[in-house]
Amino acid sequence: MTATHALDRFTHGGGHCWVTPMPAGVPAGDGIDDNERSCVVLLEDGVPLGPAHAHHAVIRSQGGGGFSHWGDTLFFSTSDNSDPRDNGRRYAVSVPDADAMGRDPATISQAADYAIASAHTYLNQLQAAAIDIRGARILELGPGKNFGAAILLAAAGAQVTVADPFLSPWIAGYHPLFADALAGKWPDPLGILARLSAGAGFDAVLDLRHAPAERLDGVADSSLDAVLSLSVLEHLDDFDAAFAEMARVTRPGAMNYHSIHVEDHQGYGRYLEHLLMAPDHFARVNDAVQRQRGCRLRASQFLDLFNRHGFAVEDKAVSLTGDEGYFQDVLARLRQSASEYAHWPEDDLRVTCIGVRARRGA
Ligand SMILES: C[S@@+](CC[C@H](N)C(=O)[O-])C[C@H]1O[C@@H](n2cnc3c(N)ncnc32)[C@H](O)[C@@H]1O
Repeated sequence: MTATHALDRFTHGGGHCWVTPMPAGVPAGDGIDDNERSCVVLLEDGVPLGPAHAHHAVIRSQGGGGFSHWGDTLFFSTSDNSDPRDNGRRYAVSVPDADAMGRDPATISQAADYAIASAHTYLNQLQAAAIDIRGARILELGPGKNFGAAILLAAAGAQVTVADPFLSPWIAGYHPLFADALAGKWPDPLGILARLSAGAGFDAVLDLRHAPAERLDGVADSSLDAVLSLSVLEHLDDFDAAFAEMARVTRPGAMNYHSIHVEDHQGYGRYLEHLLMAPDHFARVNDAVQRQRGCRLRASQFLDLFNRHGFAVEDKAVSLTGDEGYFQDVLARLRQSASEYAHWPEDDLRVTCIGVRARRGA
């Protein structure tokens, strides 16, 4: 279960910072002994804000949704730095617990299998790019809730950084069990999985960055042998900024691999409906769900982004639609629409997912 508690008593904490006591029943947050202990999610009208664990000085000076659950107090900012006492929005904290992650053995085993499949995808791409996993410096963007693939690459000998603006917290009742499940299926010569099983926390084995791909603060220029992601780049806020950052942190001659789902994530197989929406309408709808609806960019436009930002595409694997009936129906509607995709090439419109391996130019 995830418990949600409404917040309503806000006092000004300077700059963009607002302060409120945590409701009774919420476990203690960060402290000097552990500045990433809290796993609460702050919601503004039901939409998660972040980054969590933000420095209080940064909350005051920059705001933008950053927050800190410190002891039994919440220091936070609103998404647009408006005053939470009169901006008409509702604020709440939700406290995930182990059960919310699906702690039953079958669900954990499935999550471990997904992590292993993801790690194999990465390992195959690294091997194709002639990168030895042992000692490789790797950044995974958007690692998801359990960091499974990143942990397995670390267990295989890589030095792994993960970056996500909504980095998942360590949940003491779940993640050690997940690490146990991985340990039953993956070699652990370095004892990485054993440390996680013993409750060491993600930061014991991974370099954690509460940062979006668009601003990889603290990741040095040309410092990485590989930047990797699965189902992340379609959720970006600013594609050019993120590709510029990916190029900045990748060592010249090193590789990137990204698997990008370009379909409308609204689902039900109607994967091109978003191309019929006006761009600003789609952006508003998508922002309200934290860009979980995906993006309108087509596969060829992602390939252009790689090229424009100094990458040479070495391999691309595309998945195509299987549903010809829907495709012909939406194509007819698109061709008659005012969409900027009205005259887009049919073969590009058919692509639902593209996996790209690219090398950064010297
Ligand atoms: C659909 S999930 C994919 C998770 C995981 N890679 C997987 O394969 O299951 C998208 C992930 O991207 C993260 N994300 C969203 N916007 C991001 C951004 N601008 N930069 C980096 N990660 C982002 C989300 O927090 C989430 O962890």
